[in-house]
Amino acid sequence: MRPRFLIVLTLDLILLLSLCALEHVPFTGMTLHEWLGLAIAVLIVIHLLLSWSWITASTRRFFRGASNRTRVNYVLNLSLFAFMVAVIFSGVLSSQQALPALASANTRWARLHDRFSDGLVALAATHLAINWDWLLAAARKILVR
Ligand code: HEM
Repeated sequence: MRPRFLIVLTLDLILLLSLCALEHVPFTGMTLHEWLGLAIAVLIVIHLLLSWSWITASTRRFFRGASNRTRVNYVLNLSLFAFMVAVIFSGVLSSQQALPALASANTRWARLHDRFSDGLVALAATHLAINWDWLLAAARKILVR
């Protein structure tokens, strides 16, 4: 089994578990929530770098007659990224523990953070569903081994 495959799979699982934990603030507490939210930004960058060939190939295909499924998947992934940025940005502006110096006095950011995180869950669930075959194949590869 290629090490890259194991790294991608482990990173994806960490991202999924982190997202589940981030959605339950009473479970993590506010301090861990904020630091985990900042750490996930680093994980997302690594995830994007590891998927870079898919991103460049799909961007090229998107404008050169890709199938509808590929187009939908592309727009979904782009929206997922935009929501992730919006959730982290609004989280930083409502920060109470990790980065209070950057927090805004406007409480609207906390409400926006909540709304963006709802959208993020919906998009992440769809992302998981679309890539379910890949996940099952990966699990099978590991179990058969
Ligand atoms: C992907 C990353 C993140 C997700 C999915 C996420 C999700 C959530 C959720 C679901 C809540 C509860 C909202 C409610 O009260 O119903 C929340 C609250 C909060 N989050 Fe995040 N969060 C993330 C990142 C961050 C970051 C990076 C920070 C700050 C550095 C942050 C700061 C906060 C704060 C201060 C609250 C309480 C807001 C309030 O006063 O209602 N979050 N977050």
